Amino acid sequence: MDDARWLAGLEEQAARRLPAPLFDYLVQGARDGETAAAAAGAWREHRLLPRVLRDVTTVDVSTEVLGRRTAVPFGVAPSTLQRAVHPDGELAMARAVAEADALMVVSSNAGTRFADIGATGVRWWVQCYLPSDRSLAVPLLSHAVEAGADAVVLTVDTPVVGTKYPRTPDGAVVWDSVDPAIVRINFEPGYDDAPGSGKALDLGPRDIGWLATTTGLPVVVKGVLHPDDATRAVEAGASAVWVSNHGGRQLDRSVATAAVLADVVRAVGGRAQVYVDGGVRTGTDVVTALALGADHVFLGRLPLYALVQGTGGVARLLRELSDQSLEAMRLGGATSVRDARGLVG
Ligand code: FNR
Repeated sequence: MDDARWLAGLEEQAARRLPAPLFDYLVQGARDGETAAAAAGAWREHRLLPRVLRDVTTVDVSTEVLGRRTAVPFGVAPSTLQRAVHPDGELAMARAVAEADALMVVSSNAGTRFADIGATGVRWWVQCYLPSDRSLAVPLLSHAVEAGADAVVLTVDTPVVGTKYPRTPDGAVVWDSVDPAIVRINFEPGYDDAPGSGKALDLGPRDIGWLATTTGLPVVVKGVLHPDDATRAVEAGASAVWVSNHGGRQLDRSVATAAVLADVVRAVGGRAQVYVDGGVRTGTDVVTALALGADHVFLGRLPLYALVQGTGGVARLLRELSDQSLEAMRLGGATSVRDARGLVG
């Protein structure tokens, strides 16, 4: 099968190979799934304005993310359950990401120890949610810093977890069959029973400064859709904002990220980096996001679907997306990611 068709069929291949409750968990959105369903189409609504009569002999798809080059303009977004998708879980993911010289964001709910992920040599960031009692987050953050995370991503769209309905006919949900030992392995024993360990309902801009001081790392704020919130995050010290609706898994009917990215770039671009995720399924989507001003693009479900096929699957995904991005840039007359910004009106 050629790589483009393989990529287009990745979700279907995952559906065939994974147990139904697990696949459903990966694919589903919150509540009626409206936001999840609209994400990919929202990229396709944009139109590019290609440039011609330009020398596109050499096209460089690398990007600078928080001061360091990555070979490709996309990276892996944080997600849990990677060890349910493949026995090697985050390690298989990390090896492929390292090989591609890309960037991986590791969920605080990961099933692999941060130290083992760091030992693969991958460039990685740690993602966290903050608990009501902020001090309870400190041990996990310290492990991540020790294991070489070079930024901390604070997910701010999850004061509570958006409700998702079982989709299998028998009502089975993934959590009934997943071994607790393959998720949340980086928390201290007994964490979930500690008073104050529930997700913070009072998250605010001050938490950004707290995280920066606690970890000594740049803070990326993930889950921003409104330009004013992007401004508040940057004024509170965020190094980057990450436009995301959590893959449609939080507030259903939230706007598509493709629809608000340009407004966020207008609000904070130049002062902080802007990243985006949600519904990115092809290299043309990646280049559309770059054209709208994203400094980096993240992929949630695609790498999970590819992980079903292990390190080789993720490596193939990253290669194919890189080839597609390069082709779109060459056809658009853009020789660098910076040039790609000129591709919209
Ligand atoms: C996620 N996402 C997520 N985000 C986060 O900040 N922490 C997490 O632990 C998880 N876990 C998670 C699990 C699964 C199964 C999915 C599908 C997603 C959200 C993720 O980082 C990202 O924002 C979206 O997945 C992006 O949308 P696409 O690319 O999946 O359309």
